[in-house]
Amino acid sequence: MIATNPDAPFWDRVARKYATDPIRDLAGYERTVARTRQLLGAAATVLEIGCGTGTTALKLAPSVSRLLGTDVSAEMIAIAREKVAAGTFGNVAFSVAPASSDPGTGVLYDAVLAFNVLHLVSDRAATSAAARRVLKPGGLFISKTPCLSEMNPLIRMAVPIARWLGKAPSVSVFDSATLETEIAHAGFTIIERARHGSGRRDPRIFLVAEKSE
Ligand SMILES: C[S@@+](CC[C@H](N)C(=O)[O-])C[C@H]1O[C@@H](n2cnc3c(N)ncnc32)[C@H](O)[C@@H]1O
Repeated sequence: MIATNPDAPFWDRVARKYATDPIRDLAGYERTVARTRQLLGAAATVLEIGCGTGTTALKLAPSVSRLLGTDVSAEMIAIAREKVAAGTFGNVAFSVAPASSDPGTGVLYDAVLAFNVLHLVSDRAATSAAARRVLKPGGLFISKTPCLSEMNPLIRMAVPIARWLGKAPSVSVFDSATLETEIAHAGFTIIERARHGSGRRDPRIFLVAEKSE
């Protein structure tokens, strides 16, 4: 029997509600999508890890060559597949896989995307290593990650309570400098860092990391 990934049950439980929640900072989200689209280009083959219900994948799919979205939650992937079935997407697929392992497609990608997920995975080092393994030489690991150390301390204090109540997933607390260092240690060069949020101080760091030789 295959053991359930410990990150999956929370997301399976909330997936249907997550699918209907509005995007909190739509303008900031659109900036991230637009910049990512520019970085990818029409010939790009793309893997998006922790893709959730496929919202971003389906936005990007028309402007890239092929896109595979993976997520640890079977419920999230079921919703993403429902969206594909309801649309006309010929170049996108979704499958259940933890971010810390290869999706098993046996192909190398031009880019790996990780949006709002690196603070949630139980093993960040393994996740960056897996991204590196499936990238072509010079491929890009593009991430956007909430850095809880840079948030209001009251929010940080509320997380364990929300978690105890079953209303929040397990999250890691780190700052953007730590995340950059970890990604660099996994064999990447950070070539771009930005904050796309509309607020004064966006705690989500957008990082573009190139696979080093
Ligand atoms: C906050 S949602 C973000 C979804 C999407 N990337 C977005 O930006 O809307 C986090 C997603 O990461 C997934 N996730 C959490 N831990 C994971 C892991 N270890 N491997 C793969 N996906 C994971 C969850 O199932 C969920 O779909």
